[in-house]
Amino acid sequence: MKTYTPDPELRGDYSKAAPDYSVQQEWGKYTPEEHELYRRLYARQAKLVPRYACPEWIDAIAGLDAAREIPKFDAVSRNLREKTGWEIVAVPGLIPDDAFFTHLANRRFPVTVWLRQPSEFDYIVEPDVFHDFFGHVPLLFDRTYADHLYEYGKGGLKAMRLNAVKYLARLYWFTIEFGLIQTQLGIRAYGAGLLSSGGELRYSVEDPKPRRLPFDLERMMRTEYQIDRYQETYCVIDSFEQLMRETAPDFTPIYARLRGEKA
Ligand code: PHE
Ligand code: CO
Repeated sequence: MKTYTPDPELRGDYSKAAPDYSVQQEWGKYTPEEHELYRRLYARQAKLVPRYACPEWIDAIAGLDAAREIPKFDAVSRNLREKTGWEIVAVPGLIPDDAFFTHLANRRFPVTVWLRQPSEFDYIVEPDVFHDFFGHVPLLFDRTYADHLYEYGKGGLKAMRLNAVKYLARLYWFTIEFGLIQTQLGIRAYGAGLLSSGGELRYSVEDPKPRRLPFDLERMMRTEYQIDRYQETYCVIDSFEQLMRETAPDFTPIYARLRGEKA
């Protein structure tokens, strides 16, 4: 989840951040306890993803060797640059919209450096390295998804100029964070908030309670979301190509219309 709140409680160390909010990962400073907690988080999700994650994510994680310890961002970036031209940048936590969009528009994905506390094993509000890495990074190896995210970054900078970040952020929420996708194996998750969640991954795919609606751009942009409970509504795409296609048109008239509705 990537909505910047200038909250004094944000726990990252922003004092060493560059103007683009990047920091060094300082991998050597993770403690054995942190690697162990990461390993436990990974192991829990590893049991779920074969049944609930989309095939593109499953294919990519297999090549990542990310089960043993908190991954080294530089090594993954080298690999990623070759495949889709993306790289990971370490950040202290949530960053302002313009910095976030600028990274995406340059094919850099910001990944939080710190790991949650053991007491947050099941639930965490802010994104940590486990959510950002496990949830987001594998799909950057998928060409279409990666291209879409690059377009999203450019679209974010444009939405800032048009004062419409609120609407675009909802799209991100219902796709990149909590999106479902139709596959030959049935509905699967590709949203990072689902893939990194111990409970909501299964819930989103299987539970009869939530609504699962087909892709509808304007409807998503009109829908407010909750950040502190399981979603009531998920959006199911047919493919990453569909996501790419349906988000390609100019959003300017859509933003104008939504603003008129006072959504
Ligand atoms: N087409 C969008 C616009 O004109 C840009 C965009 C592309 C946004 C892909 C999100 C994803 O603003
Ligand atoms: Co996220």
